[in-house]
Amino acid sequence: MRIDIITIFPDYFTPLELSLIGKARRSGLLDIRLHDLRSWTYDRHHTVDDTPYGGGPGMVMKPEPWGEALDAVVGPEPAAVPRLILPTPSGVPFTQRHAGRLAGEPWLVFACGRYEGIDSRVAVDAGRRMPVEELSIGDYVLAGGESATLVMVETISRLLPGVLGNAESAEQDSFAPGAMDDLVEGPVYTKPAEWRGQEVPPVLLSGHHGAVDRWRRDEALRKTARNRPDLLRRIDPEVLDRRDREV
Ligand code: ADE
Repeated sequence: MRIDIITIFPDYFTPLELSLIGKARRSGLLDIRLHDLRSWTYDRHHTVDDTPYGGGPGMVMKPEPWGEALDAVVGPEPAAVPRLILPTPSGVPFTQRHAGRLAGEPWLVFACGRYEGIDSRVAVDAGRRMPVEELSIGDYVLAGGESATLVMVETISRLLPGVLGNAESAEQDSFAPGAMDDLVEGPVYTKPAEWRGQEVPPVLLSGHHGAVDRWRRDEALRKTARNRPDLLRRIDPEVLDRRDREV
């Protein structure tokens, strides 16, 4: 998969050289290209923002550098068209489902806005040539789209075949479609079996796989009820068995 990121802070993305994603890039599974928006400014101060029409606080990102940046990254007559992602607090909430779908795309472009956002004509203009999605990573306002892009790129990249060491581990995740029916994951343990007076739940040492699965599901239900009652209310009662209802 190819991912282009356009930003005024390319250095913000050095974490993408580390760990699983760094390894995926070095092995050629993931081609991440960073672009400095200021390369498409021509004044002495490399200006990317201006005051908002209609007044109000803050600054808005100018359309010209964004238009040129997207033209250059996408190419004049692209044989393939990328999907453009605009991180914004006013976007559709980004979920694991989006990540799964976007992991199936060959090419994504992230446009990181700062200040009060990017002049709205940029998304309309880009939309004439490529699919555009506005996505929010949560109901809070960041200083810019960079950290939201990091979150989305990491979430998407770890779903690419070959990026995770153990192919199964993504399927067991909280929010993984199917696996745990929209429950969050319960507690996990490793060795030693006793630590600071706390024992690992004996069922996990029993070797009885059926009992372990049942215990994990019960714990996932309890934790979902405690931390995410909103998720529990959304679960289709059809997928709950009789034991689930007793938890
Ligand atoms: N930019 C600023 N806040 C954001 C958010 N919550 N999600 C995505 N992009 C953003």
